[in-house]
Amino acid sequence: MNIVILAAGQGKRMYSNLPKVLHPLAGKALVLHVIDTARALSPRRLCIVYGHGGEAVRSALDAPDLSWALQEPQLGTGHAVRQALPFLDGQGTTLVLYGDVPLIQAETLRRLVHAAADGLAVLTVELTDPQGYGRIVRDPAGNVARIVEQKDASAEERAIHEINTGIMAMPAERLGEWLSRLSSDNAQHEYYLTDIVGIAVAAGLPVRTTRPDHAWEVLGVNSKTQLAELERIAQRTLAEKLMEQGVRLADPARIDVRGELRCARDVFIDINCVFEGQVTLDEAVEVGPNCVLKNARIGAGTRLAAFTHIEDAVVGADGRIGPFARLRPGAELAEDVHVGNFVEIKKSTVAAHSKANHLAYIGDATIGRRVNIGAGTITCNYDGANKHRTVIEDDAFIGSDTQLVAPVTVGRGATLGAGTTLTRDAPPDSLTVSRVRQASVAGWKRPVKKSQTT
Ligand code: UD1
Ligand code: MG
Repeated sequence: MNIVILAAGQGKRMYSNLPKVLHPLAGKALVLHVIDTARALSPRRLCIVYGHGGEAVRSALDAPDLSWALQEPQLGTGHAVRQALPFLDGQGTTLVLYGDVPLIQAETLRRLVHAAADGLAVLTVELTDPQGYGRIVRDPAGNVARIVEQKDASAEERAIHEINTGIMAMPAERLGEWLSRLSSDNAQHEYYLTDIVGIAVAAGLPVRTTRPDHAWEVLGVNSKTQLAELERIAQRTLAEKLMEQGVRLADPARIDVRGELRCARDVFIDINCVFEGQVTLDEAVEVGPNCVLKNARIGAGTRLAAFTHIEDAVVGADGRIGPFARLRPGAELAEDVHVGNFVEIKKSTVAAHSKANHLAYIGDATIGRRVNIGAGTITCNYDGANKHRTVIEDDAFIGSDTQLVAPVTVGRGATLGAGTTLTRDAPPDSLTVSRVRQASVAGWKRPVKKSQTT
């Protein structure tokens, strides 16, 4: 089978510098949804027809299994498919998809391709408002006779509610000849792919129609409004899949997955969470409201409290993270680690049973087991030019409001007194304090305001 994806159209109504088919839907370019669905059908050839200025599309998506046909100028859908012919196999079925119809499902396409086994098949739907679409014209016996475009249709034809979704499948060996017979003698002076339907009928080939499983599969994106509508449909579908797998969602209408979210059993996700890239939630993970997780793995039994932000980081099992915690790229937490509010961790490993419960910055650090990091602790990892590492060994206790001026090591079992500015290594099993000794001045009087004399 060949698959051709038409993506040369300009997308004027998007009012954007970004080519239309590169706009993201559920975190993935529109046309990449179509490409991935096409791949699920294992075509022998997969060709994308792109237009002038579409180099951005090509460079963004290029992959070894794709071929690229430039269509310049754009003279219609029939002309577009013709540009793809040199890249196609002359045998089997050719399936035409649209790069801006991203939600089409493989199952619907399998049925369409099956219906084209000995002829041509068109994916159609009935619309209460068919305005703008090509209409399916049938003969008195109910067989498809041809497709007529809105602009070429008579008043009688415009009253037809069955429309062409644009997606069709046809015999590859006939396609070249059919396309060479198209004419642009029509209202739009374009070469219409839809005209091959009448040609196939005249050649005596069966033309069948099939329907999509869901009406939303054939919705196209021409504007930002339609893009937002399709985003909601895509999210609803993703949410339903998660719930079918056993995930408990506080509200399926308030979750956004912009990538791939894998969940083990008994995961709970509260409202307004955003998942980007590859996110894995192990068994019984609970995600509080308003969390953002990007490329993250969360271990079994861990609870993320509200407003936790995690990016390119790993959290072990049975952790307690947040509220308002931020794990930045390279944060790796082992099991039973507690990270509380307003704690930021970057490029650091934290071993099991360690805690940083309030207001801290931990960057470029190696934290051992059972370490307690007090409120206000800061690793001073950056000297203005270079980054340096902080090492805190097992069972260390870091008093509140401590600065660790890296490179520096806190030995096993060491205690740092509150307010310490550590500039040299702290020996193990000792108390290290850099604070000025406390003094009291007995009988000291506060200054009083002088009386005003003018
Ligand atoms: C087309 C169909 C119409 C159908 C409708 C469904 C034709 C002649 N008409 O109409 O029957 O109801 O889609 O949405 O096929 N494209 C190119 N190169 C071109 C022209 C278009 O690559 O020269 C691509 C576009 O990027 C788009 C698709 O083909 O992905 C359809 O183009 P569009 O202009 O939307 O076609 P319509 O006139 O809407
Ligand atoms: Mg259109």
